[in-house]
Amino acid sequence: MKKFVLYMLAGLLMTACTSQPKSQEKEKAKKVLVLYFSVTNTTKQLAEYIHEKVGGDIEAIEAVNPYPADFEATAARWQEELKANALPDIKPLKANINDYDIIFLGYPIWGDRYPLTIKTLIKTGALNGKVVVPFATSGSSSVKQSVAELKKDVPTIQVTNAFCVRSVLMDKLSLLVDRELITLGLIEGENEVLPDYSEMREPTAEEVALFEQSFADYPRMAGTKAVSVASRNTPRGIDYKFVGENNGAKMDIFVTKEKGDVAPYFTAVDRS
Ligand SMILES: Cc1cc2nc3c(=O)[nH]c(=O)nc-3n(C[C@H](O)[C@H](O)[C@H](O)COP(=O)(O)O)c2cc1C
Repeated sequence: MKKFVLYMLAGLLMTACTSQPKSQEKEKAKKVLVLYFSVTNTTKQLAEYIHEKVGGDIEAIEAVNPYPADFEATAARWQEELKANALPDIKPLKANINDYDIIFLGYPIWGDRYPLTIKTLIKTGALNGKVVVPFATSGSSSVKQSVAELKKDVPTIQVTNAFCVRSVLMDKLSLLVDRELITLGLIEGENEVLPDYSEMREPTAEEVALFEQSFADYPRMAGTKAVSVASRNTPRGIDYKFVGENNGAKMDIFVTKEKGDVAPYFTAVDRS
């Protein structure tokens, strides 16, 4: 009810402003729905952060038969579903997606893709023609492959930007997410313009050490070699984009070294 009154007020204010030049007109507040699927609550935490920042409504996508919290058990069920081409049923959404201007769509990355519950949602046609901001959490993967899949599965979808936060970096949400929300015009603030990355070059011994340190606590990356690197200075330190190689597979690995006594960490691995 409170929200409805606010929208009414916004509407009245905008009507009152119609005589102003177009450039001075306030844009109508966008109605936002944060929709997310989460098994072990990491994506839920990110969804709640976004909701807290941008307002609107929030709802979980729930499997009728919930996935177990145990990684191996969920992975086994997911593999079976993939093999059988069987989509899990989801509970009907309470929100009417057509009431919203922007849908934040959150999910954990599974096998570099989105979980099958999202596929079930897509099959209902709910996302057709919608403005969607995909957001994800993962152990290491970037959101890139899942967004490509989303665009392929829903050709009418409008995706402007998308982002992913590694589950071990959930204490850096402000640093990693606010920039995206500012770009979308959903929160106030100004993003500093970041320079382009340098040309790719051979990494120095110091950069190789920093690269290896960034995934020292992530066994899946063990043995990954730094092939080349580009970097850029940012107000908070240095960003690196490494090309890494592991067992013949090449990948882009994004590493940040903040100023001061903060260990380097990787923010995403793009294996596409
Ligand atoms: C079946 C399964 C597959 C996964 N595949 C990947 C993967 O390909 N890349 C990755 O970085 N993390 C992967 N993860 C880790 C999850 O993306 C990560 O733990 C996520 O933050 C969990 O989100 P949730 O707590 O909202 O369920 C996988 C997890 C599960 C259960």
